[in-house]
Amino acid sequence: MSDLKVLFSRDQIAQRVAELAAAITRDFAGEQVIFVGVLKGASIFLSDLARAVQVDATFDFISVSSYGKGAVSSGEVQLIKDLDESVEGKNVILVEDILDTGLTLTYLKKLIAARQPRSLKLAALLDKISRRTEPIHADYTGFEIPDHFVVGYGMDHAERYRNLADICILPPEMF
Ligand code: PRP
Repeated sequence: MSDLKVLFSRDQIAQRVAELAAAITRDFAGEQVIFVGVLKGASIFLSDLARAVQVDATFDFISVSSYGKGAVSSGEVQLIKDLDESVEGKNVILVEDILDTGLTLTYLKKLIAARQPRSLKLAALLDKISRRTEPIHADYTGFEIPDHFVVGYGMDHAERYRNLADICILPPEMF
């Protein structure tokens, strides 16, 4: 992995996740929350975030199709795997590894909001604001980043690198 440049080390990530968790703990004191992870990239962030909060929490996972990034984008998101449980009347925190164009979270926010949760918040570890095409922002954001291709801590290139502990920049010659 010597060609990968570390953007955020595991220690920096842990520190920021702890801060986000403290905010969630404060905002949902005495309440229950459901963390909804968007597969697969958010799985590691969800695992760390959920262990760092001090609220009564459950997990669920949802999966949507990639809409063709890199190639010609259809701009359409499709549901691959729905939630297992009802979210009606519940506090939902949608957890994403990265907010890019915003198409995925815009689609998921609408889908879940229609099911009448008590509250719906968005947590994104990384935010590539310069890439945004949809008017959406996260309630809990880890780091704003420039438009680099990032891998590690759940994020992949062709399914590789998800298990790196650091978040790294994949140089263009490795695409
Ligand atoms: C990534 C990421 C978000 C989405 C963000 O998922 O996990 O779900 O892209 O992009 P957007 O804001 O432009 O919609 P990806 O399709 O790479 O799937 P993965 O999580 O399984 O790696």
